[in-house]
Formats: sequence, C-alpha cells, structure tokens
Amino acid sequence: MQPLRICLVASEVTPFAKSGGLADVVAALARHLHAAGHEVMLVMPRYGRMAGLEFGEGPTGIVLELGEARFQAAVRTTPLPGSDLLVRCIEAPDLFGGEALYYGDEGDAFRFAALTRAAFECCQREGFAPDVIHCHDWHTALAPLYLRRVYAWDRLFAGTRTLLTIHNLAYQGRFPADLVERLGLGAERDLFHQDHLAEGYVSFLETGILHATALSTVSRTYAREIQESEQGRGLDGLLRARADHLFGICNGVDIDWNPRTDIHLPAHYDVDDLSGKRECKRALLERVGLSTENLEIPVIGCVSRLTPQKGFDLVPDSLPVLLQREELRFILLGSGEERYESYFHWLSHDAFPSKARFWRGYDEPLSHLIEAGSDLFLMPSLFEPCGLNQMYSQLYGTPPVVRRTGGLADTVEAADGQGRGTGIVFDEYSSHALLATLEFALYLYGRPDEFRGIQERGMRRDFSWQGRAAEYVDLYRRLPSL
Ligand code: ADP
Ligand code: GLC
Repeated sequence: MQPLRICLVASEVTPFAKSGGLADVVAALARHLHAAGHEVMLVMPRYGRMAGLEFGEGPTGIVLELGEARFQAAVRTTPLPGSDLLVRCIEAPDLFGGEALYYGDEGDAFRFAALTRAAFECCQREGFAPDVIHCHDWHTALAPLYLRRVYAWDRLFAGTRTLLTIHNLAYQGRFPADLVERLGLGAERDLFHQDHLAEGYVSFLETGILHATALSTVSRTYAREIQESEQGRGLDGLLRARADHLFGICNGVDIDWNPRTDIHLPAHYDVDDLSGKRECKRALLERVGLSTENLEIPVIGCVSRLTPQKGFDLVPDSLPVLLQREELRFILLGSGEERYESYFHWLSHDAFPSKARFWRGYDEPLSHLIEAGSDLFLMPSLFEPCGLNQMYSQLYGTPPVVRRTGGLADTVEAADGQGRGTGIVFDEYSSHALLATLEFALYLYGRPDEFRGIQERGMRRDFSWQGRAAEYVDLYRRLPSL
C-alpha cells in the first residue's frame, strides 16, 4: 500500500520536552510511523530548555500572524533519538524562548496557536502535502479550524484530513471569548461553539472536537467514559454526538523501557532470571537512603505528577495505616500540587523516616530504577486516559496496584490469587478500598509462587508500539471516508 504523508504537531516530544505521557506517545508514534516507511513531519516548539542541542537549519523568515501580533520564526531540525527522522523545532524566541513548556496564562493560547500555524507553514515551505494532520490535546486542537478556513485556499492541503487525539480531557485550553479576535480568527467566529462564546469563553479542545475529521483517545475505556457526564467535563454531549467518529487506541511502550537493555539500570534481567531485579532493588534503596539489610521487605514504588487525577487523595487514610503496621517501604518520585508535596514530605521526613522516601522533582534515571527496584507499583488514579507506568511496571516484574478506570482497566488484568492476573485492581474510589487492595497485594507478595506468576504474566505482555502505530495507520487510511 502507498505510504502516507503524516504531519504530527504537538507541544511535547520526548526527550526534548516532556511534562507527561503525551511526549512519550508522540515520540514513539512518530518513530514507528517513520520506521514503517511513512513520510512524517513532526513539528514541536524549540523551547529555551533545548538550548544545549545541536540543530540543523530549516526554512527561515517565517512570519506567524495572530491578529495584531506577528512573530518571527525559523525551523531548526534535530534527529529523533533512535531514528533518522528530523524533528522540526519552531524557533521563535518571543514565543518559546522561556524555560517552561506551559505558563497557564493567555500567552499559552498565542504560543500554541502559533505552533499550530507553524505546522502548516512547514508543510508549505517544504511542499509537503499531508494526508493527515494529527494534532494532540488542546494545544494544537485548532489545526482542523485552520485547515478548514485559513489554509483552505492552498491546494497543497486539498486532500488533507485531521485527527485530534485527546490525551486528557481535564485540560481544555479555555480562554476569554475575546481571544478569538485577538488571535485573528474573527472571520472564523462561526466555527467556535456559539453558546460558549455567548457565555464568554472559547475552548481550543472543544473547537477541535467540533471540526476534526475524526477523534481518538488513548484507550477504549476512556473513549467510552468521556461520553458520560461523570468524566465528560462538559464535553460529553459533544463527544456523544461524534461517537461514530471517536476511536480508542491504547498507548504502547517504547524501546527504552525494557529491563533487558535499560541504560538506567545497574543490572539487567528478564522473565527467566529475576536476579538482576534484586540488584536493582538494592541500588534503589541505596540511592534513596533506605536500609538494604533485609531485601525481602516489600517496596512499593510510585512515579507520578502529583495531581488529583492520580488518586493521591486516597493515600492519607490508607498508606500510613500500613506503614505503621507492616514492615514495608514506600518510595515516591514526583512533583505537582503543593498540598501533595507537603503531605509526602511530612510522611517521609516526620512520620516514617526509615520507611518512606519522597523525591521531589523530575528524574528520568530514578524513574527507571523505581520501576525495576520496587516490588509493587502504586497508581490508584481517579481517572486515567491511558497511563504508561502501569505498563512499564508489568514489563519490569513490578505488579501495579491500580484502580479500574480508563486505560488502567484496559491494560491490567486483575490478580485473583489463583493463578490469574498481572496486577492488583480495585474499583471503588475510596481509601478503604485502596487499603484493602494494598493488604491483598502484600498478601500475594507473601506467597512467592503466586507472586512470581503475576510477575511472569505481566513481563510476557506485549505492549509494543508496532501494533499501536498500525492501528493509527488504519485509522488514517479510513479518514477520507469518515
Ligand atoms: P501522565 O501523562 O498523566 O502524567 P502517564 O503515565 O501517561 O501519565 O505518563 C507519565 C510519564 O511521565 C511516564 O513516562 C512517567 O515515568 C513520567 N514521569 C512522571 N513524573 C515523573 C518524574 N517525577 N520523574 C521522571 N519521570 C516522570
Ligand atoms: C495524558 C494522560 C495519560 C496518558 C498520556 C499519554 O497525560 O493523563 O493517562 O497516558 O496522556 O497519552
């Protein structure tokens, strides 16, 4: 079959700029599409934090017009690691010169509208006629609108369709309604949700949902959940109306997450020989300053953004009960909302200094060591579009403790203590349920044969990206008939 021409545009791409799983998914998808022989144009900002990279030159002298604002931009290129695909990084110091990815203010609307326009400009400068523009989350969700109006005159885009992937409905890119004019989209006012303009706001994500050829999200269960009011965050009606254009494609795990080859681990291991995992456990305990005297004591690890999404409100009435009662270690790496950071600081510093550790911040090597060196991985999310860590942990022989929601429901099979399952799963969003589930997990840990079976089944799972990328390609090919 003919290879496709695919333009991917996103605010984050691993390893250049990452705040969460979005970056991992975009990088893996681009890499696998390229490896499968498709022509990929991957466009992202050149953030200030990317200053240390070496870049090749791309088109220069691009002017990005947004209402009265005009931004000078140039394209710089750099290869995507593990691939010879050249990433197009949009250099525009007035927009992306700062260190942060997101500032949480109106400036973000300009920055990411500009990024979205830049993707079209890259296609034009390079004569790249995309079959698909695949945009991700609210940041680039105006692409379908730009295609429909602003770039509709250009025959280059005559055969172009759009796919919007929703990685997280919790972030919608809502701004005051007058932003429409300030972004220079006054003539396109009719394409925004009229009731919401009247109510005084505009939402980038909603606009994308209205106009993309098709929509996808990162697991089948989440695709269903967001069509209901509880998880629809006000967009469920619109998503129901587009249900036959909404698809769920589960995320995968990329090559850098493999306990046989992981460059961040002091020892390697696989499903037939877990001795290296014990070395990782020792190294992890040493690294965070916990005793290595008795390696049989179970370690529960966690790597996460500290937001309500991740279920941390369940922790204060469950985990300390166990830490008090059991010989147990808890290691958390993450950062986020102040209230969680200060709680976990208290838990590790004041309440259980010999049993718990909180490492505040972002640390790629430590995140790999936690996945490998822990015995159980905690991920009790309130909601989870897909989630990556529960997949990593299964492959690393570290059964995840998860709530049955979104992608967690689709990727973890519940252990029943009788030779089935790959993780420990609970339903009710309550501290009580989490406590009971952690108790069950520790009980399973205490039965080595049963626990080893859970580890083995998890480690043998196939979460590889080849299959995932092929699902996207199938969907891209169907776009013209949708
Ligand atoms: P989300 O995108 O909602 O944060 P995911 O599970 O999809 O959740 O992806 C999170 C990604 O970010 C994983 O690769 C995880 O290992 C990584 N991550 C999150 N917090 C940290 C941290 N503090 N240090 C290193 N990696 C982190
Ligand atoms: C979002 C979601 C997470 C998902 C990731 C990548 O950040 O919170 O569940 O895995 O995007 O799709």
